[in-house]
Amino acid sequence: MPIVGVESTSAGSANIPPNKSINGVSRVTIEDVSLPEFSKDAILQMPELNLSDKEKESKIREWMKSIFLTDEDVELIRKAFLEEIERGLEKTPEQKSSLQMENTFLPELPDGTDEFGNAVTEKDGVYLALDLGGTNFRVILLRMRKGEIIAQKVDYFHVPEAVRLGSGEQLFDFLAACIEEFVVAEKVSQEILPLGFCFSFPMHHAGLNIGILASWTKSFNCSGVIGKDVVKMLNTALHKKNIHVDVIAVLNDTTGTLVAGAQKDHDCAIGLIMGTGCNACYLEKVSRIGKWEGPHYDENEVVVDIEWGAFGDNGCIEFLKTKFDKEVDKQSLLAGTFTFEKYISGKYIGEIVRHVMIDLAEEGPFFGNHASERLLQFGSFTAKHVSTIEGETLSGGTDKIREVMSEMDLIYDKDDLRALQYICAVVSLRAAQLVAICVGYLLTRMNKPTATIAVDGSLYKNHPRLKGLMDHYTAVYAPGCKFQYMLALDGSGKGAGMVAAIAKRLTEKRTKSESDPN
Ligand code: BGC
Repeated sequence: MPIVGVESTSAGSANIPPNKSINGVSRVTIEDVSLPEFSKDAILQMPELNLSDKEKESKIREWMKSIFLTDEDVELIRKAFLEEIERGLEKTPEQKSSLQMENTFLPELPDGTDEFGNAVTEKDGVYLALDLGGTNFRVILLRMRKGEIIAQKVDYFHVPEAVRLGSGEQLFDFLAACIEEFVVAEKVSQEILPLGFCFSFPMHHAGLNIGILASWTKSFNCSGVIGKDVVKMLNTALHKKNIHVDVIAVLNDTTGTLVAGAQKDHDCAIGLIMGTGCNACYLEKVSRIGKWEGPHYDENEVVVDIEWGAFGDNGCIEFLKTKFDKEVDKQSLLAGTFTFEKYISGKYIGEIVRHVMIDLAEEGPFFGNHASERLLQFGSFTAKHVSTIEGETLSGGTDKIREVMSEMDLIYDKDDLRALQYICAVVSLRAAQLVAICVGYLLTRMNKPTATIAVDGSLYKNHPRLKGLMDHYTAVYAPGCKFQYMLALDGSGKGAGMVAAIAKRLTEKRTKSESDPN
């Protein structure tokens, strides 16, 4: 069983596990890149195309035109987004929205007070948190004091492809085995610890600890889970192993990131993930949620998980789709779904560039008119390559771009280097603008005096230009709104622990007020 132990006495993420093999299985390395700072002007500047072969230049300009967003596109996307949000919040919309707009039932963020504005007086607590969404599963033991994490222990487990694409039962048995190994190693197997489960897939919530899987995304497609409560499935697997924990909250990574961010900055109102997948949640007024089910507890606002990865699955922004996007979708694990995510996220951004390159090599006089086998291979050009090339564009170098060309077995000249820089810049710009359109609309909708957007995800952390582009375009698309983006490292894990703590307090308080209504 692959295990990595990371101990930390602060809420920081400085403890990066080195590569190590335990029980013959490779330890997972988590990369954390600190990026050099570039000026705003440099970030906003598109790389000069200026090719020596002018025919090549006009050809590539023509090809890339379809990816650039016009002002009209921006307006149409914004309009579609707001209409889909409204429909998604309605009880019985005339037309089904592509936005799930899921009520998470989380009515409060950690700002030191409860949902009624009373000061929180929590006792110290130990919580377990689980984080599943990518190829690594994390189990975390958190010690909290007054809503703050004061110590944590993290183990990373690689989830093999066979498990990600196998049966649901196999998946949850695998998770239970990881948890068992962890609680035994941490000597907490005899305690019934409260657990927060960060499950980063679209879910229907019927309460804080009920999460019915709506669809798989990213690199998961386990049979027999869609339509089922993942908390129940986890509990069944844990019972088989005689492990006793109390799963009191299930949440999405955007919610975790918002909650973790709100602990640092009480103005946090949006949680955003730009990693393998892309999604956001925000604080919505309860009065606007027509489809609310279940009792109300005087909440003013709740966290709503938008699931914007699926924006456009009903065709409402079809005009955005270029021939390259169609290819990306066709070759993806779950074709025809998660349209918006496929324009933006780390799992697909390299794929978009790869498809442009293939066309240029096969049809145009680029890359020696030859698409190498490596280039034709699905997934060979990644978000990491895009970030590397964008970094070289900003720093004025070409060495690393040449390395990428060699890695891709491509024949190239100076014009090809410039072409690749240009393609990466255009594709990145579109991703940043799309996110900024949606965030900009949310800021306008919430209309708060100031709002912080807590962000996490490998693409956001490692891409040298995205943050600057998003800052700029969000201001353009939400004029007059005061906002800032804030990196909330490891929001999903920490947030899961914090949500478990909030859920525990809410449950205790609600039970008390139900048994003693006065
Ligand atoms: C999932 C979301 C998740 C996002 C980021 C998407 O594919 O549907 O639930 O928040 O990825 O991990």
